[in-house]
Order: sequence, then C-alpha cells, then structure tokens
Amino acid sequence: MHSRRKIETLASGVHQFCNWWDIQVRSVLDVGAGVGYWSDWYRKNYERTKVLSVDVSEHACKKYGHKLRDISSWAPNRKFDLVICQSVLQYLDEQDARSAIKNLAKATKHVLFFEVPTKSDLRNTVDRDVTDFEIYSRTGTWYCNELKKYFKQAGAGLWVAKSSTIVLYELEGTQK
Ligand SMILES: C[S@@+](CC[C@H](N)C(=O)[O-])C[C@H]1O[C@@H](n2cnc3c(N)ncnc32)[C@H](O)[C@@H]1O
Repeated sequence: MHSRRKIETLASGVHQFCNWWDIQVRSVLDVGAGVGYWSDWYRKNYERTKVLSVDVSEHACKKYGHKLRDISSWAPNRKFDLVICQSVLQYLDEQDARSAIKNLAKATKHVLFFEVPTKSDLRNTVDRDVTDFEIYSRTGTWYCNELKKYFKQAGAGLWVAKSSTIVLYELEGTQK
C-alpha cells in the first residue's frame, strides 16, 4: 500500500493529465477504495467534483464512508470522467476480473487509472516484505488484452476509454 503523500502526488498528476487532455474532472469513481486516500484528495481539493468511492469490504465501507459494491457484479448506471482502480483486481479470480474490467469500462467516460501487480511484478519488482501474496497472479499481457477491448493505453497506468473524446497523439499512447 502506498502512503497518503504518494497517493496525493499521483492523484495530482492524474488530474493534471486529464486537464492536459481537456477533460474537466467533474466526477470520480474510486473502486476498491480501501483507506480512501484518492477520495479524500478530491474532496479536499476539488469540492465541486462528485466523488463516489466503493468497496466490497463492509469494514472499509463503515470506517471510510464508501458504498458497498462488488465491481465484479456491479456497474454504476452513469459514467464518471475519471475512474480509479488501484491494487484491486489481484483479489479476483479470472472470470470475476474479466467482468470487473467490463464494469470499469461501463463506468468510464474518459480516463481509467488502473494498477495491479502482475506475475512479472511479483517476481521482480515488488517489495516482498510488504506485499500480500494471497492473490491471483496474471500476466501483464492478460490484463492488456482485456483492457484493450475497451480502452487505449496511454502509459503510466492511464487508459483512455475508446468512446472518449480524448485524442492521443501517436506517441502519447502505446498503440503501434
Ligand atoms: C490493497 S487494497 C487497495 C485499496 C486502495 N485502492 C489503495 O490503492 O490504497 C484492495 C481493496 O480492494 C477491495 N476489493 C477487493 N475486491 C473487490 C471487489 N470485487 N469490488 C470492490 N472492491 C474490492 C478490498 O476490500 C480492499 O479495500
């Protein structure tokens, strides 16, 4: 898990990237919000942005004020300018992870910030002392193939919905 300070830095960068793409972030959905650092940052800095944070844990919902939702079986009935899903899908089996990505796509008007540890990360990158290994490990290719059904990859965890008005320059994205 990242510190509040790290998430504030990330949130600020992601928000500014949306602005760079001419997207005013008026609504944010944080999926698997956990301790709620993303929603706290938006609520503090952008009071007029509508923020919905959801989590499948009753404890997290009660303690941090999220709505109780399971992203593998729930999609909102409206779209959000920015959707966050950080470090969540490793807890879902393959079928649920696939459904969750479909639901994230239904929820995203413009930009999805997505992070998950992959097989390669677990082998080579993560700090083994602070990483939960009771998870499903899948390849980066598996996640890319699922996400690319609905999104264009922009790098740094940013995925632009295919239906968004955002136009990426050729080298801003990873498409060849
Ligand atoms: C490792 S924490 C990450 C929390 C936060 N996103 C962060 O990056 O700090 C994973 C969170 O995802 C939630 N979660 C796991 N499966 C979920 C699901 N199917 N739907 C919604 N939330 C889920 C867990 O309850 C937990 O709060």
